[in-house]
Amino acid sequence: MEKVIEVKNLVKVYGKRSAAFTALKHLNLDIYKGESVAIIGKSGSGKSTLMHLLALLDKPTSGTIKINGIDSTKLRAHKLNQLRNQSFGFVFQQFFMNPNDTVLENVMLPLKIAGVRRKKRKELATKALHTVGLEERLKFKANDLSGGQKQRVCIARALVNDPSIIFADEPTGNLDSTTGDKIIKLLFDANKKGTTLIIVTHDEDLAKLCNRQVRIMDGEIVEDTGAKSQKSSKKPNSQSKSAKTSASGAKSAKKGAKK
Ligand SMILES: Nc1ncnc2c1ncn2[C@@H]1O[C@H](COP(=O)(O)OP(=O)(O)OP(=O)(O)O)[C@@H](O)[C@H]1O
Ligand SMILES: [Mg+2]
Repeated sequence: MEKVIEVKNLVKVYGKRSAAFTALKHLNLDIYKGESVAIIGKSGSGKSTLMHLLALLDKPTSGTIKINGIDSTKLRAHKLNQLRNQSFGFVFQQFFMNPNDTVLENVMLPLKIAGVRRKKRKELATKALHTVGLEERLKFKANDLSGGQKQRVCIARALVNDPSIIFADEPTGNLDSTTGDKIIKLLFDANKKGTTLIIVTHDEDLAKLCNRQVRIMDGEIVEDTGAKSQKSSKKPNSQSKSAKTSASGAKSAKKGAKK
């Protein structure tokens, strides 16, 4: 299987000297094309920190993250931006859009950055907003939506450039269960078409829908179900070994995905 993300010895320290806090401690993790991976763990364990690093939105203190074999820590800023815009979709609430632009403009933005012409941008963004059930809100200011509607705009924006990897941090956090189920279906539909899905969630049901669960505790991976064939994968700190055969459980887990 093709490795899309290869993390080696990843460390993230926030702050300096006496205020320094090590949020990630020498993580190793391989993610393969087409996987759906749930990152789980208690509040403050380092899940969002890991997601931000994987999505190249923040830089590690040490260690490397390879994306499709390319060492991201060696890329210049514009190459990083290009990689993010062309290959990644984000569902992060704290990276919410331009509040004074319309819903449609917000969803068109990744395509604009990618150089898609306006007519095509409009067409694709309208389609994505239709998919998330916001076709009646195209002309609204993003700020004038409810929390759940904003979340759906984020999903539309994440899907619009047909990304190879989607990063979603608590994608259903603010939603009622019906809307949440719709969002989950959209994410897994993309996954079925080959998009790699990485989801941070506290929702056990959502975590179970993923073909792999990675548990973080105090900045370390303490469990990785990736290698179902290796019993040792349940032991703490065995992540580098267990990740190798991670894609094997994909098909069986996906069958259980919600409709
Ligand atoms: N900018 C920062 N400066 C200092 N410490 C930080 C910073 N961001 C996060 N932390 C600390 O790093 C740890 C991990 O934070 P992170 O946001 O990754 O947790 P999380 O697992 O996503 O938690 P939650 O489930 O509550 O979202 C926390 O203890 C947090 O206080
Ligand atoms: Mg978080």
